[in-house]
Amino acid sequence: MYSKVSSLGLFGLNAFPVDVEIDVSRGMPRFDIVGLPDASVRESRERIGAALRAVDVLLPTKRVVVNLAPADVRKSGTMHDLAIFVGVLKALDMIPSSLDGKCFIGEVSLSGEVRAVKGVLPMTILARNLGIEELYVPEENAAEAAAINGVKVMGVKSVQALMAHFNHTEMISPAVYSCHENLSISAPSLDFSEVRGQRSVKRALEIAAAGGHNVLMVGPPGSGKSMLARRLPTILPEMTMDEILETTNIYSISGMLDPKSPLVRKRPFRAPHHTTSGAGLVGGGSTPQPGEISLAHNGLLFLDELAEFDRRTLDIMRQPLEDKTVTITRASGTVTYPCSFMLVGAMNPCPCGYYGHPKKKCTCAPRQVQQYLSRISGPLMERFDMHLEVEPVEFSELSDTKAPESSAEIRKRVQAARALQEQRFKGTDITCNSQIPAGHLHEYCPMNDSAKTVIKNAFERLGLSARSYDRILKLARTVADMAGSDSIERTHAAAALQYGSMGWKYSPEQK
Ligand SMILES: Nc1ncnc2c1ncn2[C@@H]1O[C@H](COP(=O)(O)OP(=O)(O)OP(=O)(O)O)[C@@H](O)[C@H]1O
Ligand SMILES: [Mg+2]
Ligand SMILES: [Zn+2]
Repeated sequence: MYSKVSSLGLFGLNAFPVDVEIDVSRGMPRFDIVGLPDASVRESRERIGAALRAVDVLLPTKRVVVNLAPADVRKSGTMHDLAIFVGVLKALDMIPSSLDGKCFIGEVSLSGEVRAVKGVLPMTILARNLGIEELYVPEENAAEAAAINGVKVMGVKSVQALMAHFNHTEMISPAVYSCHENLSISAPSLDFSEVRGQRSVKRALEIAAAGGHNVLMVGPPGSGKSMLARRLPTILPEMTMDEILETTNIYSISGMLDPKSPLVRKRPFRAPHHTTSGAGLVGGGSTPQPGEISLAHNGLLFLDELAEFDRRTLDIMRQPLEDKTVTITRASGTVTYPCSFMLVGAMNPCPCGYYGHPKKKCTCAPRQVQQYLSRISGPLMERFDMHLEVEPVEFSELSDTKAPESSAEIRKRVQAARALQEQRFKGTDITCNSQIPAGHLHEYCPMNDSAKTVIKNAFERLGLSARSYDRILKLARTVADMAGSDSIERTHAAAALQYGSMGWKYSPEQK
């Protein structure tokens, strides 16, 4: 007796089709799973045995062989349980309906409950592309899967419910996509209007948001650095549908989706603690999981207290920052995850926090200040397009009763600047100015002569690196966009330089 049932597997972000073949034959009673299963798949045997008993099916005293094809691809996870369960029953002739066009994913518990699995979204996208008609998933994952059009999603609560469905005693109805986002009571949303004063920093953050530039904020304690960073996502442009799916895929394979709002529609904001390990930051594990930089994909990664991070941990991030993808190699294979995010760092200028403070005196020795800053490597420092000096807020600003501009108003200008960029980069995979590749700088960032002179002078005076030059050009492009200018003029170049050079005041060489 033989049966074949479709299932899906996952490695990294890549889903692949798996055929579960079952053969029940005469011989010593045993239950074997073959086809490169890892331990979690092999244990499925025990779960299936118990789940069969839960629906009053006793395995015949025969030899049962389960083959997961293709046999040369390693299978891991518990998502094949449901297909194996269905396949065994089909081989025993206990499922009347045809299984053509149907596909099953889900973990089965000893009592027969069907439990949620990770990565349902990328698997559903594949199912749709493969032309699968009905996809059976754990009920908890049904909302997530239903977000994809073109495939009928059936949420299965338990194997008992599945049997009732096959026996036509109680049908499962296809899941419908609904977005409850507006109903969810989230924490009161943050807004830029809550931040008093700091006009120039806010303006700079607006430019950063408009061009997707990385920002480092340096300033004394309590000046509002963390407060500002947390409000940055509120002025970033809305996500496109492609971006939503890309980001949701990562949360799906990490098992971090909220069943109530299965799509990640808001740009992610990740703020890992400074004790985070390298693997936590860039990804890792024996079956490599996405790290913080990938969870921040299409959103923002905020490294608060930047100087407290381990220098080596930060440096692992350098290459992914450039490539916008991260590749992790383990014994089980190599996976690549996207990690296109805006990097925002915040730090004090010195251990006591008051170096450069207009009123308070810094109690650190010059050597200590230098050591503090050199915790961040030069190359990482250079990856921040903007170095902003955040000054303490004046009392008059704090007590001012006039509310500052709201996030919605700032966002309108950001969206306008992004619209210009969309036009400019039509037909390419560049989404914003910060992503202009070095080879296209002159095409996209034309400068007039006086702008060139300003940059040339600074270049010679400060001994900038080639990377800094590129970054200043891209930043100047955004400043010009915000001013509605096609070419980069003197004032735009000067502004870009000013944002770049603030940090150099703190850099060890300048001290
Ligand atoms: N510009 C501001 N407008 C209104 N409130 C502010 C402002 N700056 C700071 N505050 C208040 O001070 C608190 C501390 O600010 P925040 O945590 O952002 O400072 P910080 O610059 O990150 O300090 P640290 O260097 O200690 O991390 C905020 O929660 C807020 O209540
Ligand atoms: Mg802070
Ligand atoms: Zn100090």
